[in-house]
Amino acid sequence: MRLDRLLANSGLGTRSRVRDKINHGGVTVNGTVITDAAFHVTEDDSILIDGHEINCKTHLYYLLDKPDGVLTAMEDKRLPCVADYIPSELKSKKLSPVGRLDYHTSGLLLITNDGELSHRLQSPRYEVPKTYLATFSGQDWTENEINTIVSGFTIRDKGYSEQIAPAALEMTDPSDDGLSRALLTLHEGKTHEVRRIFAHFNKEVAALRRIELAGVKVSRELDSCGRFRPLTDDELRLLFDATGMSGN
Ligand code: URA
Repeated sequence: MRLDRLLANSGLGTRSRVRDKINHGGVTVNGTVITDAAFHVTEDDSILIDGHEINCKTHLYYLLDKPDGVLTAMEDKRLPCVADYIPSELKSKKLSPVGRLDYHTSGLLLITNDGELSHRLQSPRYEVPKTYLATFSGQDWTENEINTIVSGFTIRDKGYSEQIAPAALEMTDPSDDGLSRALLTLHEGKTHEVRRIFAHFNKEVAALRRIELAGVKVSRELDSCGRFRPLTDDELRLLFDATGMSGN
């Protein structure tokens, strides 16, 4: 990340103020004075401003494998919510979920305090792919229906209509209890979109699990449900690449 961006992200002033400080030789990186605001640094570098070490680890990135029956919210008086899975020492870090999964959807939920990344991951502009494993009842998908999904289509329901962007659908192995399963990859994130797409084609989703987002994956099975862990560097790079933030 650029030196000026990292300092600004660390709450040390606007980008122009920190650039000023850098230009005037007030910043050292690993013991060397750096006057180039675009100098590449990582959170592991030792950065001093006017001789005082600063703590750069302001942006935090986690993955929660959300269980079914958990609300995507940081607080709820009645129901279990994702905040219950965040360790107490992180409670002051202003973390929040990136988008939302329905109460009855399990799987991959990113949790961060990086507002810019969160915004971009949810923006239709970046068309970030998200793959859902849907267990459903009803007829299996026909070739015609799959082609409709691939082309994009309109859902018309009780006086409103909504355009569904082109997506991809692939049948996969049935569930243990013999229900059909399919993988649906969307590049947008409308409310209840997967369930509404299935309903449009007269299929009912019995269980839904998000298993992939921009190449970051969780297991298809439920074995890691409830696990909260930091993203790896490779996973973070996938997210930054998908949202045009690499090299910032
Ligand atoms: N689509 C849905 O219907 N539910 C989710 O939780 C996510 C996508």
